[in-house]
Amino acid sequence: METEKIFVKTFGCQMNFYDTEKIYAYVQDRYLPASVPEEADVILLNTCSIREKAEQKVYSLLGRMVPLKERKPGLVIGVGGCVAQQEGETILQRCPMVDIVFGTHNIDEIPDIIQERLRTGRRICRIREDVQRVPGDQAPLSAGPLGPTALVTIIKGCDNWCSYCIVPLVRGREVSRPAARILAEASGLVSKGVREITLLGQNVNSYRDPDTGKGFVDLLSRVNDIEGLERLRFVTSHPKDFSVDLAEAMAGLSKVCEHIHLPVQAGSDRVLAAMKRGYTVSQYLQKVDLLRKRIPEVELSTDLIVGFPGEGREDFEKTLDLLREVRYQNAFSFRYSPRPGTRAALMEDPIGPLLRKSWLPELQQVQNRITSEKHTMMEGKEVEVLVEGSDRKDTGLLEGRTRTNYIVHFPGEKTLAGKTAKVLILRSRTIHLEGKVIT
Ligand code: 5AD
Ligand code: SF4
Repeated sequence: METEKIFVKTFGCQMNFYDTEKIYAYVQDRYLPASVPEEADVILLNTCSIREKAEQKVYSLLGRMVPLKERKPGLVIGVGGCVAQQEGETILQRCPMVDIVFGTHNIDEIPDIIQERLRTGRRICRIREDVQRVPGDQAPLSAGPLGPTALVTIIKGCDNWCSYCIVPLVRGREVSRPAARILAEASGLVSKGVREITLLGQNVNSYRDPDTGKGFVDLLSRVNDIEGLERLRFVTSHPKDFSVDLAEAMAGLSKVCEHIHLPVQAGSDRVLAAMKRGYTVSQYLQKVDLLRKRIPEVELSTDLIVGFPGEGREDFEKTLDLLREVRYQNAFSFRYSPRPGTRAALMEDPIGPLLRKSWLPELQQVQNRITSEKHTMMEGKEVEVLVEGSDRKDTGLLEGRTRTNYIVHFPGEKTLAGKTAKVLILRSRTIHLEGKVIT
């Protein structure tokens, strides 16, 4: 019998990309990865519910899958991830083409759930409530080909309860993975050729090894010691917990890259308090200052929400001021989206989204100018690039990143993938830089 194939489509954040890797690892004894949904016998959607738009995408994609199922009646269609965790059975009721629904804590059960569906013909919904385990914790390393970069989850869930955020509801309470397991996974990846690891968590600063009680800085230094590893990154760091110790560790540990994603969300103290972020703008700026003093070349990126309930024009302008002051390399900005079950969804908003329609493009224009100025400043510099492979549009160029997280394209042999190259930056583009290899 021909080996069957599985296709997993990932929506949303890096946490979901990690879970998708684990799904492939759990099913690898039975299924080969399909490169397109059309050739798959099982299609799973690993969904995201952080904003309403992400959720709508899932339903529209499911609609487009009806003809696939008509052509191949045995096709199993599954929905997992955050939308599944929150909606559960409702998905089965609303979407007749869906065979199985599984929650964010049920990844290890996926092979059994698929088998049960095939054996019994019943539609299945399996949602575990919060459990003291990281999804995919027992998963074997994927047998598939690994690129030079990989993600490793260190802590799942979130206990911060920012008032706009659905994550604590769909990912549960914070649970840290034992450091021994993280180190084993990271070493395993490095021995298979991975050069750069990103440690992953909604709030990595809250990490605490359940076996020893030691925190994130200790873990970072132990991963830094793995022989053969070249670069180490981590996301996401909550500004309220970002500590002097961590800044010192970033400065002192040779493999930790000079880039940090430090989501600020808003530039107005009033809005930050309503968001329950736990810091003021000036406290945030002090941490940025500390980082820049200890690591002068450090680059920062951030997340921003525009149009939080009650946010006025003067609040928004403070966010623009903050962008001009910090000069982020990159900012991911989103229109506020009310999420069911969050506190902010119940807040009054006399201004309303219509009057704020132009704010997001306005903010993006300010940030784009800053990004473009920073890119121009890179022209003529020599940088070290870890080559990740061909560029995404496959124009024949290689793509990689600097330690400071600039994306660089340049001509070169594909055999350079996984190696570091010295590159001279010749031109700046909107999202990336272009250069040529000098060694
Ligand atoms: N509306 C808009 N953006 C949101 N984010 C989280 N929740 C919401 C929401 N309800 C953004 C935050 C977070 C990023 C991952 O998504 O900026 O940092
Ligand atoms: Fe959501 Fe706040 Fe937790 Fe980030 S820190 S996942 S924004 S609740």
